[in-house]
Amino acid sequence: MANNIVLLSGSPRKNGNTDRLVAAFVEGANAAGKKARVFRVADMKIAPCLSCNACFKHPGVCAQKDDMADILAAVSKADAIVFASPIYFFAVSAQLKAAIDRLYAMTKAGMPIRESALLLTCGAPTTRVVESVIFMFRAIGSYQKWREAGIVVAPNLHEPGEIDGRPELSEARKLGETI
Ligand SMILES: Cc1cc2nc3c(=O)[nH]c(=O)nc-3n(C[C@H](O)[C@H](O)[C@H](O)COP(=O)(O)O)c2cc1C
Repeated sequence: MANNIVLLSGSPRKNGNTDRLVAAFVEGANAAGKKARVFRVADMKIAPCLSCNACFKHPGVCAQKDDMADILAAVSKADAIVFASPIYFFAVSAQLKAAIDRLYAMTKAGMPIRESALLLTCGAPTTRVVESVIFMFRAIGSYQKWREAGIVVAPNLHEPGEIDGRPELSEARKLGETI
């Protein structure tokens, strides 16, 4: 069970469906007495990884000085990580992918993360469009030896707030409690 959760949320749309799914997860985590820190990465200055490999000389430190430093500091103390995103062209948002790539700075230092979870929203009525993201999430988890705590997918969402009253919010709340 996790006590200190870092959640990287990739939707740029404020109070949209992804934000609401994230809020439900955090509500569950807080109700279970866990700390969950949300980073809305689309509001942060996070440049893509430059593959300079400076982080192999200085483990845990990225040569690029931007807001990613706050996330790296939080991740270095976290025991669980959650990725949340709307599906953009069968993938996570570019903002979230940039932040995930920048976790590379922790490769040599290692992350104390033991568990991970995934929260996704998409416009399509089926969950097939999220398959590539689930594949990516599981591949990262297997590489990092993270236990998969759960995945919540909310399909058929377009306008902000359409997720209200849907069962995926309860699923996310429950996942926040149990992660
Ligand atoms: C640039 C862009 C690309 C999208 N691509 C897809 C897609 O490939 N498949 C899909 O099902 N929905 C797609 N959508 C719809 C969003 O995933 C969906 O409406 C989501 O719930 C939006 O989340 P938000 O309310 O947090 O912004 C796309 C939306 C945008 C803006």
